[in-house]
Amino acid sequence: MTYGLFSRAAFFSAAVLLTGFVSDLHAEDTNALVKQGQYVAEASDCSACHTVSGRGNFAGGMEFKLPIGSIYSSNITPDATHGIGAYSEAEFSRAVREGVRRDGASLYPAMPFPSYARMSDADIHALYVYFMKGVQPVDQPAPSNRIAWPLSIRLPMTIWRAVFSPSIRAAQKDVMRSLPNDGIGRGAYLVEGPGHCGACHSPRGLAMQEKSLSNSSGSLFLSGGAPIDGFVPTSLRQDQRTGLAGWSEDDIVQFLATGRNRRGEAFGGMTDAIFHGTQHLTDADLHAMAQYLLSLQPHNPALSAWRYDPEAASALQAGDVSAPGAKVYVDHCAACHRSDGRGYAPAFPPLAGNPVLMSDDPASLVHVVQSGAVLPGMTRAPSAFAMPAYGNMLSSQQIADVVTFIRKAWGNNAPPVTAATVDELKKTAPEMMRKQGIIPLN
Ligand code: HEC
Ligand code: HEC
Ligand code: HEC
Repeated sequence: MTYGLFSRAAFFSAAVLLTGFVSDLHAEDTNALVKQGQYVAEASDCSACHTVSGRGNFAGGMEFKLPIGSIYSSNITPDATHGIGAYSEAEFSRAVREGVRRDGASLYPAMPFPSYARMSDADIHALYVYFMKGVQPVDQPAPSNRIAWPLSIRLPMTIWRAVFSPSIRAAQKDVMRSLPNDGIGRGAYLVEGPGHCGACHSPRGLAMQEKSLSNSSGSLFLSGGAPIDGFVPTSLRQDQRTGLAGWSEDDIVQFLATGRNRRGEAFGGMTDAIFHGTQHLTDADLHAMAQYLLSLQPHNPALSAWRYDPEAASALQAGDVSAPGAKVYVDHCAACHRSDGRGYAPAFPPLAGNPVLMSDDPASLVHVVQSGAVLPGMTRAPSAFAMPAYGNMLSSQQIADVVTFIRKAWGNNAPPVTAATVDELKKTAPEMMRKQGIIPLN
């Protein structure tokens, strides 16, 4: 009896222990998945579009202006009414990788599902667990889209999806293509898939589709994109002058981790991509991405290498400001960027040899001079740096002149900019400044 009781008690407590252990294991499993899913969300930059200050994490509401009206990013918190709480994992996978909402409607490709189609089942599973268990529900709807009927019925988007977005199967097959080694293969996965770098850095076609979704379809991929909110995403391939030729693996890693390095500083949409995304990645993943980027052949192999030319610096140092824009540069810019154009990195970026200066499209430069730029502190580089706004201080002609000067000096040799171009670009400046939270200085 005693024995029986003992054994029953023992069995009971063993069972309790075991259930405890199993549920602990389960909890640990869930915790590990939530953590892993959070990392995937960071690598995919979900919050750059789904988190708007003042509305709670992932509560949506970011406005995307399209030619046909405005759409808003969705509330993707696990709230059952206003968020994605009712999504099953299969429905979630369909929304993220195929652009189909739970109710069957097609999403606008402002949500980068053509890139996310490459994400692995394991990453999608972790991401789902994170959004269901690791994110606070927010009981607040995202604003409704403002697109007039009949375009609001989303039929065109269903056709768009069928034509331009790869199936999960086709995308996964491309992910599995043979790549030289582990580092580059992991980097390709992160850049082409979750990182959706091509959404900004690849050229788009007439229907706004990315002309190329991975390096396996040729050198258009990451060869530079159209301006986004006025800023030009540069080539991330090994193009001389306009691309990353000349950047070392460590230069790229440092830029993605902190938004600054000895060659330049992030601004525009890249600041968001770093702030919400890449700064959270491990060194191993950042090195893998850098190794992959360094493996990309140039899109335009005809470009010659940039070489420092001391002529402009010698003239300025001798007090010769006869070149157009030279006087504006000395009066307003040289204190930070120096007369030799080498800056004081990482606080004040160099302008000499900086790919941003040599892009065909000068929009970034006009906007940066006109509206200023702020680089926030990052976890691994807490200081913030700001460039003042000159829009109210300099005329369009002076801005054109100084931009022409910095595009030409120090061996940059990029084409000049006219006052008419500056006037044209000025029209979009207030909107950009609002988006970036920049308050004009005067
Ligand atoms: C570049 C901006 C952008 C990024 C990055 C982005 N989204 Fe979205 N997402 C949107 C927009 C815009 C919509 C709404 C599109 C529409 O209404 O057609 C949306 C819609 C969604 C929906 C549909 C929800 C619904 O029922 O309306 C889900 C789910 C979603 N996103 C999840 C994610 C996840 C998870 C990530 C990160 C892996 C992510 N998004 C990254 C812009 C983005
Ligand atoms: C929302 C748009 C956007 C996304 C997404 C984006 N970028 Fe950028 N990126 C830009 C813009 C605009 C610039 C030019 C401004 C600057 O240099 O910061 C840029 C610049 C860069 C530069 C510096 C190039 C130079 O010549 O100064 C690197 C490196 C870079 N991006 C890498 C990446 C990688 C890797 C990803 C994906 C993880 C990515 N970007 C995603 C918009 C974007
Ligand atoms: C007070 C110091 C300061 C002054 C003065 C200044 N800048 Fe800047 N500049 C910066 C900082 C800091 C950045 C980086 C901002 C960022 O990345 O958000 C920057 C960025 C830039 C960039 C983009 C390069 C890159 O890689 O980020 C250009 C182009 C530029 N400045 C041109 C000018 C011109 C032209 C003037 C004069 C009209 C000027 N700057 C005056 C501090 C300054």
